[in-house]
Amino acid sequence: MIWLIGNRGMLGTDIENGLIDNYIDFIATDKEIDIADDDALRKYIKDYYIDWIINCSAYTAVDKAEDERDLAFKVNAEGVLNIARIAKEKNASLIHISTDYVFSGEKDGEYKEKDAAGPKSVYGLSKLQGEKNVMDMLDRYYIFRVSWLFGVHGNNFVYTMLRLFKERDELKVVSDQYGSPTYSRDLADLIISIVKNNVKNFGLYHFTNEGRTNWHEFAAAIYSRAKKNRLTEREVAILPITTAEYPTRAERPKNSYLSKDKVKKKLGIKIRSWQDALDDFFKKMRNNR
Ligand SMILES: NC(=O)c1ccc[n+]([C@@H]2O[C@H](COP(=O)([O-])OP(=O)(O)OC[C@H]3O[C@@H](n4cnc5c(N)ncnc54)[C@H](OP(=O)(O)O)[C@@H]3O)[C@@H](O)[C@H]2O)c1
Repeated sequence: MIWLIGNRGMLGTDIENGLIDNYIDFIATDKEIDIADDDALRKYIKDYYIDWIINCSAYTAVDKAEDERDLAFKVNAEGVLNIARIAKEKNASLIHISTDYVFSGEKDGEYKEKDAAGPKSVYGLSKLQGEKNVMDMLDRYYIFRVSWLFGVHGNNFVYTMLRLFKERDELKVVSDQYGSPTYSRDLADLIISIVKNNVKNFGLYHFTNEGRTNWHEFAAAIYSRAKKNRLTEREVAILPITTAEYPTRAERPKNSYLSKDKVKKKLGIKIRSWQDALDDFFKKMRNNR
């Protein structure tokens, strides 16, 4: 049996749909079983035999985390420790999701899995502690660090842009933060193939779509597709600005371009470009899938 945690989130919904499409048996929980509440988790799972736990739940409010440090750590570090401990006791393998925000962003070029972490935000620190808790507790785990996650079933940058295209004639978007978007459906497909085929090349991996970009270029690509799909009729000027011109509560890495060499080699996968993934997003959005 598979236990999907966080099934109502953006990635969790894509994984749940994938499990259903592949006729894979699973049980699923979200906020009603708080991962920070060890007793609640144990009570829920005690009568199940579990092969895999897939954890998509997290505290994901990056800016708010600067003021809610305790809550961010309670969920992203303690909650993940609770899940890892249960995985160990149940002899289950764990798939857990982490983030490019564990890096400082000061490196030139691509970040590999073995590069030193150095989070600049509370969110990044809490997620890094979650990774450590998994690695200390378990041998059989996958941790996928992903960046700039977007999907049909959740709040994300693509939907924010689509909303703003309807409201504004001019948009200023940061052009000096570099990284790669990750399409949650592509990550979901990878995770489904792992549990379906019982793939056991455990470890820490980076996963994003192919191609390096910045938020301004990503916004422009969303705009051109919104036009093509007739989701906006308006002419919107999308202007590049610097991070200094758009300060946020939490500091983001300047460069969080993640190397996919390890995941491609060890898990034998091909990854499509973020532009192709974005095309698929628009197709799926129309069909609400
Ligand atoms: N979104 C990104 O850009 C991004 C980038 C890099 C990495 N990630 C990582 O990718 C993973 C999936 O992200 P996502 O964007 O799909 O997340 P999401 O949409 O925010 O989904 C997370 C789910 O977990 C639930 N949840 C929150 N606290 C919980 C708790 N204490 N117990 C149980 N469930 C709880 C949330 O419920 P509520 O919505 O009701 O709070 C939500 O349904 C996360 O690990 C995230 O850190 C995301």
